[in-house]
Amino acid sequence: MKVLFATAEAWPLAKTGGLGDVAFGLTRALAELGCDVRLLMPAYPGAAEQLEGAVRRRQVPWADGDVALIEGRLPGTDVGVWLLDDPPLFARVGGPYATAGGEAWPDNHRRFLRLSQVAAALAAGEVLDWRADVLHGNDWQTALAPVFLRGRGERPATVFGIHNLAYRGLFPAESYARLGLPAELWHPEGLEFFGQLAFIKGSLVFADALVTVSPTYAREIQTPAFGWGLEGLLYHRRDRLFGIVNGIDTDTWDPRSDRHLAARYSAPDDRARAANRRAVAQAVGLDAGDGPVLGFVGRLVEQKGVDLILDALPRLLAAGARLVCLGAGDHRLEVALRAAAQQHPGRVGVVIGYDEALAHQIEAGSDLFLMPSRFEPCGLNQLYSLRYGTPPVVYPTGGLADTVVDVDAHPQGGTGFHLAASDGAALAAAVERALAHWQDRAAWHAIQARGMAGAYSWEASAQAYRDLYREVVAERG
Ligand code: ADP
Ligand code: GLC
Repeated sequence: MKVLFATAEAWPLAKTGGLGDVAFGLTRALAELGCDVRLLMPAYPGAAEQLEGAVRRRQVPWADGDVALIEGRLPGTDVGVWLLDDPPLFARVGGPYATAGGEAWPDNHRRFLRLSQVAAALAAGEVLDWRADVLHGNDWQTALAPVFLRGRGERPATVFGIHNLAYRGLFPAESYARLGLPAELWHPEGLEFFGQLAFIKGSLVFADALVTVSPTYAREIQTPAFGWGLEGLLYHRRDRLFGIVNGIDTDTWDPRSDRHLAARYSAPDDRARAANRRAVAQAVGLDAGDGPVLGFVGRLVEQKGVDLILDALPRLLAAGARLVCLGAGDHRLEVALRAAAQQHPGRVGVVIGYDEALAHQIEAGSDLFLMPSRFEPCGLNQLYSLRYGTPPVVYPTGGLADTVVDVDAHPQGGTGFHLAASDGAALAAAVERALAHWQDRAAWHAIQARGMAGAYSWEASAQAYRDLYREVVAERG
């Protein structure tokens, strides 16, 4: 099975969120199952330096300018990587999608058209002496690839991963002609979305199979509340829409061997937790003490419900908790979090930025992990926290509903706590409920142990992807 996995980010080369982790973990697990899997990503600054065995390959034949592929391996894996080296589009200081100040790059439509075109050509065997059985694209940045393969007799099967429907790749109608996209697809059953170009429709309409990252999210996106206007199309394609829950990289996220932690542990362990709690408290300027710490790590965007945490804050502090937040994103939320930290010195610690070591430390040094997301296609942080013995407090949507079992609803199997509604009062109530259990150490250890014992590795999910690849390839004959 030859698979080209096309993505705009892949840890450790480039990462802004969960897609980066998935690109690494899933391709590695597929390679371990014996698939010949190659990953295509743009050559952002610094990415090539992290590849194993990097060499520069010939120019991409039909592209203008000095476009090349840099070939190597994803560190520590058998996954082949091609970095699309197109310096005018990708060699710039800032993030993959936006400037350091958070403004979307103004030419993102050109940048990711190029990535989609190269993905299609590589997969079809037009660039190198290798062709894919399956082209697996991910999110809007690679979603136009199936458009360039449609109508061909001989072509790879196409699978598209929906990691977050909120990002549809919308651009003004004027960009459509300028990008040279096929005139006959400018209509609502093609790439048009209410008068705009929607990159994501390239795959929602034309990919052979659609996969989203949890079964619940696969159902939710067929409804107006979660469909971002695409629910009708997704409902229409429901026979080709699958939900496969994400795994995690259990080597990178392992409390037994995590080099970022002050104390490592293999079972619920109050001494290790206290040491990790102290280390986090010190790192972010919280008061010392053995009282509970609540942790949050994530992109600061509407989706993640950070405002619910701020709404709930008076009750959380009144319950005796301290709060640590790590994240970056919307300016408004960054300012609000910083203000909360100033208002409650020693009780609220906020770090604005991206910090992998601190993310690991918060997972191990908090007593509860907060994830009050309004929607969550899968979510990885709650899986990390389960594995680290830090019960998550979640709004039961998407992957959060599929991976966290409420302790009070299921006393024998519970691993975390569900919010009864998507608001600050419900978050406060769920945390108060959790802290009542936390007082009872034996009961708490049992909850922690159940979470830690869960199977979160990529193995089963990678098998599900491989089965799906086989199915779509067989269907193409
Ligand atoms: P999403 O993909 O929506 O951002 P996920 O929970 O799937 O959410 O994945 C988020 C990933 O990004 C996790 O690995 C998390 O630890 C990481 N992450 C997010 N924000 C930060 C940050 N500020 N510092 C370090 N890691 C972060
Ligand atoms: C997205 C989603 C998140 C998911 C991740 C990886 O960014 O917001 O829920 O875990 O992609 O699939």
